Amino acid sequence: MLYRKQAIVIMVMVSLFALTQCIKDLPHFPEPPLSKPAKEGKQIFRFDTFGDEEFWSGLLHIDKAIAGANNGGFGPGVSPQTALAVGLKVDAEAIPAEVAAGIKSGAVKLDDPATTLTLLKLNAVIGVKGNFDEKGQQLKTIGITCAVCHSTVDNSFAPGIGRRLDGWPNRDLDVGAIISLTDNAQPIADLLHVDEPTLRTVLGEWGPGKFAAVLFMDGKALRPDGKVAANLIPAAFGLKDVALTTYTGWGDISYWNAFVANLEMHGKGNFRDTRLNDPVKYPIAVENGFFNVMNDPDLITSKLRALREYQHSLRVPRAAPGTYNFTAAAKGKSLFYGKAKCGTCHSEERYRHASTILSTAEEIGIDDFEAKRSPTGKYRITPLAGLSVRSKGGFYHDGRFPAIADVIDHYDKHMKLNLTSDEKNKLAEYLKSL
Ligand code: HEC
Ligand code: HEC
Repeated sequence: MLYRKQAIVIMVMVSLFALTQCIKDLPHFPEPPLSKPAKEGKQIFRFDTFGDEEFWSGLLHIDKAIAGANNGGFGPGVSPQTALAVGLKVDAEAIPAEVAAGIKSGAVKLDDPATTLTLLKLNAVIGVKGNFDEKGQQLKTIGITCAVCHSTVDNSFAPGIGRRLDGWPNRDLDVGAIISLTDNAQPIADLLHVDEPTLRTVLGEWGPGKFAAVLFMDGKALRPDGKVAANLIPAAFGLKDVALTTYTGWGDISYWNAFVANLEMHGKGNFRDTRLNDPVKYPIAVENGFFNVMNDPDLITSKLRALREYQHSLRVPRAAPGTYNFTAAAKGKSLFYGKAKCGTCHSEERYRHASTILSTAEEIGIDDFEAKRSPTGKYRITPLAGLSVRSKGGFYHDGRFPAIADVIDHYDKHMKLNLTSDEKNKLAEYLKSL
């Protein structure tokens, strides 16, 4: 009897404790506990450069460009203001209270590159890892991590400064502008067989939230319509049961993670894909041996499992209540799976298998330029979960449709759906709810 009473008291206390924890955590997403590999993967995703400093600092001197002439580098340097303007994000939780107070009061100057160095020392610039000398004074090198493109923040402290949101694409990040900070663009221009001004023009045209991964394989900087070819940074969440990754289905998640870490970030690992050994389709890859990269030690392969576990553990964000009309969205859902025929392609079942996840350019009524640059020759049917947090920059691989309504109009015309404007609105509300 006594035991039962004690048990009840303990249970009540435990629940009360749990409740206070929930209340304390209210503004956060209540995150499920991570498995051990996922925990490791989180560190890798956020902080691991895979040794890519040799490229970003050794070759491109981005560390020196950030520091500026006053701090041992060259040029004006990159102040926090400039960094935020090119879309870099700052992790508010990595900033000690006194620095945060200084930022609020203006005592810590956001227009001074020296402050950027302080933030790098605190490991607070998301996806940019600064390595300092023993005394912690001089910035030696920088490297980039997956988080620079695939994380953003919730702006809870100030625009661009807040808590990390891993897996959310950074659609503000101007990767081209960051690469352009280099005073040594010639080797990249040589790699692509263009002159330096041409390279800088192309980098300047990518714009926020975009990057051109396949450019460094096939050298194709422009689309057939003459506009720059660059793809929107996609979400890194919602890929657990998705057979092929990237807009054109290059491979599964670990394949692509290895591809990017080796060939785009220029980390030091081993990578092999004989499909890239095709001098007609991928001349740049062939010239540079990208189809078979070897490094000793290999700083990438052993991390792929943990990285995948972390990506698969990322929760897919839901649209905030109030950002869409609930009743209309419910009707839109019926249209999605009914009259509008969206569900014939966008289905969990099709995402799950490599044999069903691809679609031809004709089927979706667009040109096949980007599809043909992939070994698959097709477009991957994009999973739509979390669409609401990645609408900045537009829709489809290159953001060609600025708004959801444009996507729906496109399908309506291409598939002759005869949707009324009321039906289109409802469908749009459903997409906004995802
Ligand atoms: C410079 C920005 C950048 C960096 C750094 C970067 N990515 Fe990406 N990532 C992209 C872009 C752009 C794409 C779209 C590629 C395409 O389909 O053309 C992409 C695609 C992906 C995809 C496929 C998503 C999908 O919808 O299928 C995954 C997974 C991914 N990246 C993981 C990573 C990981 C892991 C790292 C670190 C090892 C990383 N990325 C580093 C820009 C980046
Ligand atoms: C024939 C297969 C197919 C059908 C049918 C289809 N889609 Fe798609 N959808 C795709 C493919 C493939 C892509 C990727 C296109 C790209 O990135 O260029 C895509 C992309 C999208 C995107 C952009 C996602 C993003 O993150 O950029 C949205 C939104 C979308 N579809 C909504 C719909 C709606 C709404 C319908 C029904 C009216 C529909 N789709 C019907 C295959 C299809």
